[in-house]
Amino acid sequence: MSENRKQILLGKGLTKRYPTPAGTLTVFENLDFSVAEGEFISIVGPSGVGKSTLLHILGCLDRATEGTLQLDGVEVGRLDESRMTQVRNRAFGFVFQFHHLLSEFTSEENVMMPALVGGTSRGEARERARALLEQMGVGERGHHYPAQLSGGEQQRVAIARALINQPRVLFLDEPTGNLDEATGQRVFDVLRARREALGVATVLVTHNPGLARTAHRLLELSHGGLRPVGDASNL
Ligand SMILES: Nc1ncnc2c1ncn2[C@@H]1O[C@H](COP(=O)(O)OP(=O)(O)O)[C@@H](O)[C@H]1O
Ligand SMILES: [Mg+2]
Repeated sequence: MSENRKQILLGKGLTKRYPTPAGTLTVFENLDFSVAEGEFISIVGPSGVGKSTLLHILGCLDRATEGTLQLDGVEVGRLDESRMTQVRNRAFGFVFQFHHLLSEFTSEENVMMPALVGGTSRGEARERARALLEQMGVGERGHHYPAQLSGGEQQRVAIARALINQPRVLFLDEPTGNLDEATGQRVFDVLRARREALGVATVLVTHNPGLARTAHRLLELSHGGLRPVGDASNL
């Protein structure tokens, strides 16, 4: 499907190295990666292989040591820190294994935050936050603090927060990894409904083969690189 849809994000020759006391650690080398409009991509692979690192680089949370990253045809991988933060806040949404909600703010305030940072008025941010919480099935939890929510509810609030700025790409790093199977499935179901309704391009890292298989494209990251998994049945 990526052939006939407009490309949003294009990473070329992405390499990540860390200097360590034992020498240079090369996490991955020379990876190419593209995301098209509306596309849903899953990435699987063993622990420690660099899945989170790759997601962070694609979403401008981290920088590649080498390689280029284009968003809508514009190079964003070499921007200075403040411009990169702007791009990230405007164009990308992130959901991690742990919700990272701010404990001293309510669900609604947490969801509003990226919109306020991006310059949206308070009234409009609140309206959007309420609508998203409703769509995620946690509309009645808007005035609760994160500690007053179940794990599944916390993740739904985190997803609402990731969506409030209508991101170009939604990145999910093991979003159900901390939930029991049934709760994880429910979170995933509301996420899928939202993703489909919004048509937002999504990159999901998961250890759950059932969830990974629901993507349009399934990729495996290994020490040999990033490759498509043709037959997902043996995952
Ligand atoms: N800041 C860092 N300094 C040195 N090594 C790191 C750093 N962050 C991650 N790594 C290493 O990079 C590799 C990939 O990590 P990660 O992207 O978290 O893997 P995954 O998400 O696939 O489990 C691991 O070997 C990890 O130890
Ligand atoms: Mg990881």
